[in-house]
Amino acid sequence: MSTVFIDKTYSLGDGSSYLIRPIRLNDKERIIELFKHLSPESRYLRFAHAISKLPDDFLENILHLDYETEMALVAVIQNQIGVEEIIGIARYVKPPNQDICEFSLSVSDSHTANGIGTHLMTDLITHAKENALQEMVGYVLRNNSKMLHLVSDLGFNTSKINDDPDFKIVSLPLREK
Ligand SMILES: CC(C)(COP(=O)(O)OP(=O)(O)OC[C@H]1O[C@@H](n2cnc3c(N)ncnc32)[C@H](O)[C@@H]1OP(=O)(O)O)[C@@H](O)C(=O)NCCC(=O)NCCS
Repeated sequence: MSTVFIDKTYSLGDGSSYLIRPIRLNDKERIIELFKHLSPESRYLRFAHAISKLPDDFLENILHLDYETEMALVAVIQNQIGVEEIIGIARYVKPPNQDICEFSLSVSDSHTANGIGTHLMTDLITHAKENALQEMVGYVLRNNSKMLHLVSDLGFNTSKINDDPDFKIVSLPLREK
């Protein structure tokens, strides 16, 4: 039985705030909008290849969470006309028969460098710990220095992947040894 995530509110530097909450089934259009606000470079850094549209199966997968093995947290603001907008998403997936999980993270280009990516990751890590996962791992492109810096600040270790020089693997133990 997975634990319930309690929504959290964080402030942005300009006096406004954003909420971090689990993704909902009705977030589809908001996720599509978030993707549209990622530059080609950010899409490449996130998906490791250039894509112009979110694949339908990817979209359906993240909306239909299996809470036993997955979590996706979104950062949400109210835009100027009071409509909810998703400005970031962090997700993990647990492979079958393993106690580890693999994360991914994206923040809208217009909202980076406000600590949103760090807060999404921190909340995702807390949720993974509460659900007894042993380790969080991620595959980050070698030239994605911002992401490597972000996870290193959170205590992740970075290693090379022998047969794939383009990527680094980052990992964080979630249990005290
Ligand atoms: C990488 C990415 C997730 C970072 O998201 P972010 O929300 O900008 O991350 P943060 O704001 O938490 O941290 C980024 C930097 O902003 C700084 N920062 C944090 N809060 C800040 C604030 N209030 N004001 C100014 N800067 C701040 C952090 O110190 C960090 O700087 P540093 O790298 O020098 O330490 C985002 O750029 C992104 O989506 N990139 C494309 C997709 C991608 O690369 N995904 C990772 C693949 S798994």
